[in-house]
Amino acid sequence: MDFQLTSEQLMIRNLARDFAQKEVAPRAEELDRKSEFPQDAVRKMGELGLMGMMIPQEWGGAGLDSISYVLALEEIAVACASTAVSMSVNNSLYCWPILNFGNEEQKKRLLRPYASGEKIGAYSLSEPGSGSDAGSLKATAKKSGNKYVLNGTKNFVTNGPNADSMILFARTSDDKHKGISAFIVEKQFRGFSVGKIEKKLGICASSTSEIVLENCEVPAANLLGEEGMGFKIAMATLDGGRIGVGTQALGIARAAFEHARDYSKTREAFGQPISEFQAIQHYLADMALKIDASRLLLWRAAWMRDQKLPFSKEAAMAKLHASETAAWVSHKAVQVYGGYGFCKDYPVERYYRDAKITEIYEGTSEIQRLVIARNVLKEA
Ligand code: CAA
Repeated sequence: MDFQLTSEQLMIRNLARDFAQKEVAPRAEELDRKSEFPQDAVRKMGELGLMGMMIPQEWGGAGLDSISYVLALEEIAVACASTAVSMSVNNSLYCWPILNFGNEEQKKRLLRPYASGEKIGAYSLSEPGSGSDAGSLKATAKKSGNKYVLNGTKNFVTNGPNADSMILFARTSDDKHKGISAFIVEKQFRGFSVGKIEKKLGICASSTSEIVLENCEVPAANLLGEEGMGFKIAMATLDGGRIGVGTQALGIARAAFEHARDYSKTREAFGQPISEFQAIQHYLADMALKIDASRLLLWRAAWMRDQKLPFSKEAAMAKLHASETAAWVSHKAVQVYGGYGFCKDYPVERYYRDAKITEIYEGTSEIQRLVIARNVLKEA
């Protein structure tokens, strides 16, 4: 077993860290306060090759491995969790399924400009009445000549208002799983519109919206994979997405930990820095331990993905551990700051708000436990 990163992986991490600290972190508080999408950062991440990291160069990507992706994404998430989720969705939930299930024509037209960062993609599975039970989705797609006509309302679409196109799931027949198909829906299609834009507790600079489909005309050329393959495409894509959200959580946890650690050395109480108190030291030790464990779980899942091994269980474990770590660490970081932690003058309250969503999207903690349990029971 080798935990040594290659010189290329170290270079990618340094590049992402440098960019994140110089250009993303200084704007994170303002964008969060204004709920403003990080358009400039997303464009620059495209120029740096961070928006299609695992996509081969012939399709506009950087042609890197999943470990490099996780290393870079952690750095962006330390600086700004909202910017990190835009990067994660474009890489994992939009580009990856087109690379794996798309045909040459789709890759040329609908992957290349997204992997190179000229355009931004999204992923639309959830509906107002269908979240964890993804197979119960109701949006319909009826074939009519050389196009499909889509109707329904999708929700909680990350990047929704800013996306040029998205992988969208709709029902082509009644069968719970085999009746779902995947489409690449472009924003200019007739009958496509962005609905309600959500106001959120955290990741406020990330955009989240409903997508409304009213007789939306999608050319048959934009069917991804075959009719009826949609559920499997959705699940296989989310396996990778969960590495992304876990890494976003890891970045939030690390940022909260580093602030709490540094603050504890400067804040004095009872005549000494609070870092001298055992209660604070135990918090810091547990934070460091949980963060390290999350990172190792994420690296394992990413490594397994690169080896083309099944990694659903490992991705679910990594996402579950990292998201619960982000929630716990940011909670304790606010505690270390005391009353100041509750105020907007310090970033720890933002980490506390941002952490929560990582326990919900791309599969709640309850769904990750279900995925893990089903897998371990199969192994018995
Ligand atoms: N890869 C490939 N195929 C898979 C799979 C995977 N990881 N998981 C399941 N499948 C296949 C199964 O093998 C099965 O195929 P067969 O019928 O051929 O045997 C089929 O899919 C059905 O599987 P299940 O019976 O396990 O399906 P289920 O209805 O019990 O659901 C579930 C399983 C894990 C609960 C799933 O519904 C799930 O992951 N739910 C959570 C959905 C989710 O994460 N939503 C978030 C959406 S994205 C978002 O948050 C917004 C955003 O913009 C970021």
